[in-house]
Amino acid sequence: MIRDLTDSEARAALPLKWGAVPEGTIPAWVAEMDFAPAPAITAALTAAVGRGMLGYSAFPGTAQPADLDAAFRGFAERHWGWDVAPDSSTPVGDVVAGLRLALDELCPPGPVVVPLPCYPPFRDVVALAGREAAYVEHDPDLDHDDPDAGALDLAAVERHLEAGARTVLLCHPHNPLGRVARRAELEALRDLVAAHGARVLVDEVHAPLVLPGQDRFVPYLSVDPGAVLVTSASKTFGTPGLHAAQVVLTDPEETARLRAVPIAANHGHSGLGMVAGAAAWRDSDLWLHALRSRLRVNAEDLRDLVAQHLPKARLRPLEATYLAWLDLRAYGVADPAGAALEHGVRLAPGHDYHPGLDGHARLNIATSEKRLVQIVERLAAALT
Ligand SMILES: Cc1ncc(COP(=O)(O)O)c(C=O)c1O
Repeated sequence: MIRDLTDSEARAALPLKWGAVPEGTIPAWVAEMDFAPAPAITAALTAAVGRGMLGYSAFPGTAQPADLDAAFRGFAERHWGWDVAPDSSTPVGDVVAGLRLALDELCPPGPVVVPLPCYPPFRDVVALAGREAAYVEHDPDLDHDDPDAGALDLAAVERHLEAGARTVLLCHPHNPLGRVARRAELEALRDLVAAHGARVLVDEVHAPLVLPGQDRFVPYLSVDPGAVLVTSASKTFGTPGLHAAQVVLTDPEETARLRAVPIAANHGHSGLGMVAGAAAWRDSDLWLHALRSRLRVNAEDLRDLVAQHLPKARLRPLEATYLAWLDLRAYGVADPAGAALEHGVRLAPGHDYHPGLDGHARLNIATSEKRLVQIVERLAAALT
């Protein structure tokens, strides 16, 4: 059910991922998958284009041709047993735009706690919103085989809250660590934030990508109804170019306030993106099931390949996402992604995710088995 794209198909389909590398270099950097899209999404988009649905999307809160809100509620109920109230989603252009809108409109003034490493636009969006970032660093020396190691350092979060931070920007599941926070961790964060009159802004774009074998994903908003959720089907279903994400709030009055912001503050959501998002949330469970199984196989292949070719590398078992965070410090190369590029593979540099932390890189495993082998072999050639 998951069809690998050939190199020429991938080059045509993914202009950023494949267009940013010369012929012969394998791109394993940005979070896009080298797989054909889910059939239900292609069919829904083809039908919508056939109807000429190329105009502006309707105002947030009014009836949309694609009911993203209902489709997401169905998905949350089926996959996470989470009962989301009707009409709690507000469409936004993409996840990063949703985070920006939430910082501007919904989060209390004050510095924003940002755990490191982080998806690089987290740092940018906090700066663009005119907020100070208060960083909490993940310890790279934690035991990689201990599933409980790698939880957010709540003592460090508390120090920032005591110093005046009022928002915690959470990535759940975590990119690039690939870890899924446990319920007890989420509850502890909720209690800490409540005690300081602060708020969690949570990005759950990788939530459907919790891999088989893990405990069920716990949506943060189901634990802390006072939080702000931003999510999208875009990472899981490979539709980020269509621009549709959602801000989900539990308070209808706050939702109404968010929907009333000037168009200039929230304008990027596309009708076709919502069509794709609704088809993803509502009609693509079987494809998603196959995708997760495939990614589990790729994650296991990566472990074996790394053990064989890069025995000094450290890598956590991947719990979620198709993005593996490699600790390559033992090879003594500050920027492994830079070295890999000279050997024909583009990884995402660790410095982009955690400035100042040498010897790390993020590797995108959502590709063919053959490419995955070549990626690791080329990385090994670059480092050894
Ligand atoms: C944690 C996280 N948030 C947001 C995004 C981007 O989402 P969007 O393209 O909808 O802004 C990504 C992309 O990789 C991501 O990893």
